[in-house]
Amino acid sequence: MMKIRSLARSMSAGLLATPLLLVAAHADAEKLKVDDNSFKCITEMTPVRHFYVDNLLGNLAGTTAVASVGRGEYPEGSVVQLVPNEVMIKHEKGFNPATRDWEFFYIDVDAHGSKIFRRGFAEVNNRFDQNCFACHVQARAEFDLICEEDHGCAPIPVTRAMFGALQRSDPRCKNRPPVSAEDAQALKDLGEIVKALKAGGEARKP
Ligand code: HEC
Repeated sequence: MMKIRSLARSMSAGLLATPLLLVAAHADAEKLKVDDNSFKCITEMTPVRHFYVDNLLGNLAGTTAVASVGRGEYPEGSVVQLVPNEVMIKHEKGFNPATRDWEFFYIDVDAHGSKIFRRGFAEVNNRFDQNCFACHVQARAEFDLICEEDHGCAPIPVTRAMFGALQRSDPRCKNRPPVSAEDAQALKDLGEIVKALKAGGEARKP
């Protein structure tokens, strides 16, 4: 009670009026709100070559156009995914110039949906404990931090067969086909790689 009264007093004194207005203006400017419900079954997104795109602000045509050409600046609202757990989302221009307005996400997925595990700009790591931004920023300027196979990023030890298997076995997808023998093998191989890399990482820790 005391707090509210003194807040009201300082507001009427004009002390807090300016900061509150600034907060309100910022909230308006932040068009894109990303939460657990912003994500969906990867194969229900729009496929482009071997990955998937979407746009949270309704500009799917703009996003698909850049993705199809394979170079250029993605429009705000763009969602890009190669595997169910890792997501790049483009905020409005100027939101974070250092990452060219991309935010990186590592999400947990199961039959009930998606849950953001980590999100951020330069501080998010992948399942191998490597930094998303540090690697994606190596892509040459015309690719807007999109790596594909030959844009200049360091390679990751995951094959196209493994990416495909991860996409087809996304637990969020209804009407998922039974896992093929090839996909089962690719997932098993990936599991071995993850285990080996994790063991290496543990061994390096003091
Ligand atoms: C060591 C480098 C490296 C790290 C770390 C990394 N990536 Fe990537 N990422 C790649 C490469 C290389 C590809 C392209 C793979 C291919 O197409 O065969 C890729 C592909 C992608 C794609 C599909 C579009 C594209 O760039 O080709 C998305 C989205 C993505 N990564 C998100 C993430 C997120 C989110 C993280 C962190 C949680 C992350 N990546 C960490 C190297 C990395």
